[in-house]
Amino acid sequence: MKKWFVFFLAALLACGLSLAQGGVKKARPLPRNYGKVIIQNFSEQARMASVVFDHWQHRAKYTCRLCHVDLGFAMSANATGIRAADNSNGDYCGACHNGKNSYDSRRIFSACTKQVATADTTTCTRCHSQGTNAPPATQEFADFAAKFPKKRFGNGIDWIEGEAMGLVKLVDSLEGVASKSKLFKGPADTTITPQVMGMPDIVFSHDKHGVWNGCELCHPEVFPSVQKDKSAVYSMNEIFEGKYCGACHGKVAFPMIECQRCHAKPVAQQ
Ligand code: HEC
Ligand code: HEC
Ligand code: HEC
Ligand code: HEC
Ligand code: HEC
Ligand code: HEC
Repeated sequence: MKKWFVFFLAALLACGLSLAQGGVKKARPLPRNYGKVIIQNFSEQARMASVVFDHWQHRAKYTCRLCHVDLGFAMSANATGIRAADNSNGDYCGACHNGKNSYDSRRIFSACTKQVATADTTTCTRCHSQGTNAPPATQEFADFAAKFPKKRFGNGIDWIEGEAMGLVKLVDSLEGVASKSKLFKGPADTTITPQVMGMPDIVFSHDKHGVWNGCELCHPEVFPSVQKDKSAVYSMNEIFEGKYCGACHGKVAFPMIECQRCHAKPVAQQ
């Protein structure tokens, strides 16, 4: 019964399913650029280069939940409206990049400062690097990715396996800023049956998601209901548009083109 599946895949590929990586039709990014966000609301007016934020460098260290729930970063590029003053006051990037906090016993370099005139601009350009000749972290990414089991798309990294193997140890709280989140146990794995006959069911794991996302990143905003049998009704098209599963998949979590990673349950033969 894989006919529908194959048909859809072929049709989508035919109309250029490069949209599966980014939501809009564009060339597939390099693995190291998957999840890269260019933050460009205020820098240019202040004659600074725009800011480059790489998810791979950060999600290897911290949970999505810490940044997107506790620190309040929006789940959409440029929607937070981060100001230099926020950072120098210890919010947003400045919650970590304050020259005091450390990660793995290394001091984290500090973000924007009010004393622009006397600032060490080499630090500024570590973030304000868009369009400058700052070298991309190509080798750093290659060395990092080499340790992980591979996947074909997205960052080319199997993040799930990597975490399970202990290659990433996720920090879920920051002293003084974010309170440690309570660990709720999510429900057992569920299968979601698509509204098209013959499409393989989707296997959804609360365990696998909880590790990275906690609970509050999905409930109530992305998936309003936590009641059995009160699940949201949505379609694959809405997911492609960036809603529901597509709030993360296709942007930071693995892309839409990996149909079988979600549509994972073999179709029963009748
Ligand atoms: C260190 C903090 C940090 C971590 C950890 C983090 N993010 Fe983000 N994320 C950001 C920032 C900053 C932005 C950009 C917000 C803005 O521009 O206003 C962002 C943007 C996003 C976007 C929107 C991207 C776009 O192109 O529109 C998605 C989706 C997202 N993050 C998902 C995730 C997921 C899933 C994880 C965990 C696997 C994660 N983030 C981990 C800080 C973080
Ligand atoms: C939860 C903590 C945390 C937050 C929030 C955070 N970062 Fe980071 N970031 C880190 C750590 C830790 C490193 C690694 C630092 C090191 O290796 O010296 C890092 C590394 C980086 C690097 C790599 C720089 C280089 O030269 O290697 C950039 C760029 C960066 N962060 C930008 C940002 C921006 C922009 C924001 C806000 C939009 C942000 N970060 C928010 C913790 C954070
Ligand atoms: C850890 C990352 C990071 C570092 C390092 C950093 N900035 Fe920023 N800065 C940001 C982000 C994110 C924004 C928001 C960018 C945007 O929307 O265009 C920003 C915005 C700015 C702005 C725009 C004006 C405004 O009111 O927001 C100025 C000016 C600025 N930074 C100055 C500096 C200076 C000077 C340095 C070096 C001393 C520096 N920044 C280092 C992340 C950083
Ligand atoms: C990545 C998104 C995501 C995360 C993170 C997440 N959930 Fe869910 N949750 C779902 C989806 C999808 C459903 C199915 C209902 C729907 O479609 O609206 C669901 C359903 C539920 C339900 C009702 C269904 C049932 O079987 O009982 C409960 C209770 C629930 N979640 C609790 C949690 C808890 C507790 C956590 C944190 C450990 C959590 N969720 C984290 C996406 C998520
Ligand atoms: C809040 C962000 C978010 C949302 C919403 C979300 N996911 Fe995920 N999902 C992740 C992250 C992060 C991972 C870890 C793997 C990665 O980043 O590529 C993941 C992993 C998975 C995996 C595990 C693949 C494996 O190799 O075991 C499956 C399957 C999956 N998601 C399906 C779904 C489905 C189906 C939905 C919607 C019902 C959904 N996800 C909604 C963030 C999200
Ligand atoms: C991130 C997880 C995820 C990925 C990746 C994914 N799907 Fe889906 N898909 C879903 C979920 C969840 C539903 C169920 C929506 C519902 O009916 O409740 C679904 C439903 C469908 C349906 C049923 C019709 C509809 O609109 O609901 C079709 C057909 C489909 N997907 C095709 C695909 C194809 C083809 C790909 C690869 C290009 C793909 N899907 C990739 C999660 C995913």
